[in-house]
Amino acid sequence: MNSKQASYLLATLLDSYDKKALVADREFFTRLAFHFRDIVQLAYSLYGGRSHLEVWIGRLVDVLYAQHSARPKAARAVDEQRLRDPLWYLSQELVSTMFYVDRFAGDLKGLEQHIDHFCDLGINLVHLMPLLDCPEGANDGGYAVRDYRAVDPRIGTMEQLDSVIDELHKRGILVQLDLVVNHTSDQHQWAVRARGGEQKYRDYFYMYDDRTIPDEFEASMPEVFPESAPGNFTWIPDAERWVMTVFHDYQWDLNYTNPEVFLEMLDVMLFLANRGVDVLRLDAVPYLWKKIGTTGQNLDEAHTILRLFRLCLSVVAPASALMAEAVVQPSEIVRYFGTDDWAGRECEMAYHVSLMVLLWDCIATRSTQLFRRGLAGMPQIPREATWFTYIRCHDDIGLGYADDDIRACGFDPYLHRRFIVDYFTGRYPESRATGAPFMVNPRTGDARISGSAASLLGLEAALDSNDARGVDAAIDRLLLLYSIVCSIGGIPIIYYGDEVGYLNDYSYLDEPDKREDNRWMHRPRIDWNKMARLRDPQTVEGRIYARMQHLLATRKRLAELSALHQAQLLDPANDHVVAYLRYSADHRTLVLANISDVTQIVALSILEECGIEPDVADAISGQPAQLEGDYVVLRPYRFLWLRHSVFGEEQNL
Ligand code: GLC
Repeated sequence: MNSKQASYLLATLLDSYDKKALVADREFFTRLAFHFRDIVQLAYSLYGGRSHLEVWIGRLVDVLYAQHSARPKAARAVDEQRLRDPLWYLSQELVSTMFYVDRFAGDLKGLEQHIDHFCDLGINLVHLMPLLDCPEGANDGGYAVRDYRAVDPRIGTMEQLDSVIDELHKRGILVQLDLVVNHTSDQHQWAVRARGGEQKYRDYFYMYDDRTIPDEFEASMPEVFPESAPGNFTWIPDAERWVMTVFHDYQWDLNYTNPEVFLEMLDVMLFLANRGVDVLRLDAVPYLWKKIGTTGQNLDEAHTILRLFRLCLSVVAPASALMAEAVVQPSEIVRYFGTDDWAGRECEMAYHVSLMVLLWDCIATRSTQLFRRGLAGMPQIPREATWFTYIRCHDDIGLGYADDDIRACGFDPYLHRRFIVDYFTGRYPESRATGAPFMVNPRTGDARISGSAASLLGLEAALDSNDARGVDAAIDRLLLLYSIVCSIGGIPIIYYGDEVGYLNDYSYLDEPDKREDNRWMHRPRIDWNKMARLRDPQTVEGRIYARMQHLLATRKRLAELSALHQAQLLDPANDHVVAYLRYSADHRTLVLANISDVTQIVALSILEECGIEPDVADAISGQPAQLEGDYVVLRPYRFLWLRHSVFGEEQNL
């Protein structure tokens, strides 16, 4: 369909709209007209083979208009504000956290009691992890949604969610929610009706009455949870059908080759955006499209779906940004940002999975070799995109390093990964880490890692053995990793509990529906009595908290740390030191971080090359760097943010 035909189609569709609405909702219709041609083209590229696609496009426009009409005034005001400041999410002032509402605060009411905690720490974006209605028992931490329009009654109600979001906004805190786009719970109405035999809903899933097609899919699809959920299909006895279940057997994959599924999920997305959500985290996006003969991941059509979602969201809820959860190879992750042009945009944000796994590699190997190679090899991201930088989240640490990079560092990929797993699960003799192997695949030898940041960094073992120096070192390591996460570019995530060094929480072993999934060991239940220690500088919690708070406050002050300017990775000629430069028009900050347990030196020439005087102050401590002769001295785990003002400090107001 060319642009003339698209304009004609739009005119025809709008004919059925009330003329008064066209005037009253001028902004909406202007945005629709602006994006319509791209919407139509993307729709044709996905569903072009279907008859009467114009009718479907008409229904899509109806969904958009209905959700626009339901959009609250406050959300529309934010739309206007963000349209004037479209790159708001690149600011260095953003700092986020993520948590399960029930484990953090009991429920939504409890959450309102703890808003002060975010303000005190310096958090201004909170990711409330899955909180929609899901079955009791196994539900993958809420990632098996039964009803996208209701809050889990154990957590609260939709009205309470609206009011918490309102309250957070009033306190200057933005809100992120999950949208589990790839699959539903097997108890979602669509699944129930599919099981009951309704063809319309069977077509919402990948359902087959024998193994022929499932076997064809299986031939090339990898397994996500080989230990607890092997295979990608599950037999449903009541329906006498096989259904595709890439994750757990109770999570049914939605079939986006059916355009009805797209419309349903678009409506859900806009419904959630209308709660005033600032960021929608799209779960498991690489899996949105499956094709026999492929891995069923990262297919072009999955990108087209995201582009179409993004455009529709821009028409109804331009204030909301999208975040991709794509735990895949670096070259694939960056594709989820899309391209700079309107029709090519996908998600504004994505987890920086590569940075995360490379940082853990630094800790285990005490070498930055793989880190530098891995990051240097990453493709540029579009100017309007940014990362979420983090060291821990609710999921395991997968070892997604590129084999070639490992080889180039002189290691064998298989043995290297095994070393990393052994190191963090404490099997390696020198290691003080207390993580656990996750999803060991006996066939391939692959494994991933579970455990809280503090436990992986040795805090648990040091406390258990009353090793005061070990405690100091673990705290230093935690802050060191967070110093990189806070300065390398992107929105840092302070994973809940890390602000006080939460250790592994083994209580999941007593919960039958969680016992088999050791990711629960790093999804702690917050004990607010223990949290109260954060005010006491004599406690481990208080020591970590004060440093974290200061780190975040410092980050927010330094405009050169905004994601508008990408970090320039440097070679400090020392494999134990991470070095990069951040700059803006008026400031340059050189970050140096010693990731080893031994004092390191870096030649002063690196400062010279960056145009930074040797006597500039470290922005965190306010002190100049320790120099010896022609070298900067970095004690174990020491990090410096050496900041140079181009125009001199006095002109820096
Ligand atoms: C995402 C979530 C993970 C979940 C999976 C299936 O990867 O982060 O926790 O198990 O999706 O929904």
